[in-house]
Amino acid sequence: MIGVDSMRFDIVTLFPEMFAAIDYGVVGRAKENDLISLNCWNPRDYTKDNYHKIDDSPYGGGPGMVMMVPPLQAAIQAARKDDGAETLVVYLTPQGKLLDHDLVMDLTTKKRLILVSGRYEGIDERLMKIEPGIEVSIGDYVLSGGELASMVIIDAVTRQLPGVVGDAGSVEQDSFVGGLLDYPHYTRPEEIEGYKVPAVLLSGNHAEIDHFRKKQALGRTWLKRPELLAKIELTAADRMLLNEFIKDQTSF
Ligand SMILES: C[S@@+](CC[C@H](N)C(=O)[O-])C[C@H]1O[C@@H](n2cnc3c(N)ncnc32)[C@H](O)[C@@H]1O
Repeated sequence: MIGVDSMRFDIVTLFPEMFAAIDYGVVGRAKENDLISLNCWNPRDYTKDNYHKIDDSPYGGGPGMVMMVPPLQAAIQAARKDDGAETLVVYLTPQGKLLDHDLVMDLTTKKRLILVSGRYEGIDERLMKIEPGIEVSIGDYVLSGGELASMVIIDAVTRQLPGVVGDAGSVEQDSFVGGLLDYPHYTRPEEIEGYKVPAVLLSGNHAEIDHFRKKQALGRTWLKRPELLAKIELTAADRMLLNEFIKDQTSF
């Protein structure tokens, strides 16, 4: 497992209350154990007018409102000043680099992230020049705001930090980690509505169980996400297992 020992997330957001949603489970425990810290910075607190205005109509006309540079810049700078650690600014935007496992792992090497959550039509383009950072998207669809996208990053990055998930092996076997999807999981009861747990998993033979799981991981990736297989180098043993899986599929 790579990554720093603890990480600080600063979120620039108009809706800090939303971040209570990740006070649970793995991320909640990581917070309690000081493996991560979360701090919200509301650009509205950095406005200078009586109305606490943070947006304005777009130059050139058109629908919606655009978030103005000064309150966002002031919030980013306040977050930066609060801690001297080196910081990467991450702008959440549907136009950014698509978040995937590799990008998550890159982010785990940073001590601090400042996550800038947009709203409305987005952020005045010049902020990204004045406060440079990277642009990240969580998928090819449009959300109403960057908060959920920020939470996705916090969750995905946090579970990769050393000590966060009690059994590190469980993270290491997750989908995408070795370039493959995860193998299937089963628990009690042994049979349910006629569906039995594969016998090998009850055998206690660990070599055979590993063999079964690797074959399933390869086969499920081949079935569900064949483009992932093209990105990794399969060993001769992997190819044999995958061929066995394909034969099993076509033999009935
Ligand atoms: C309604 S969206 C603005 C979309 C923008 N007009 C566009 O089409 O590119 C408001 C905010 O939600 C966030 N957002 C929306 N979709 C996102 C996505 N797929 N990934 C990350 N952030 C997203 C961004 O912070 C964005 O500024």
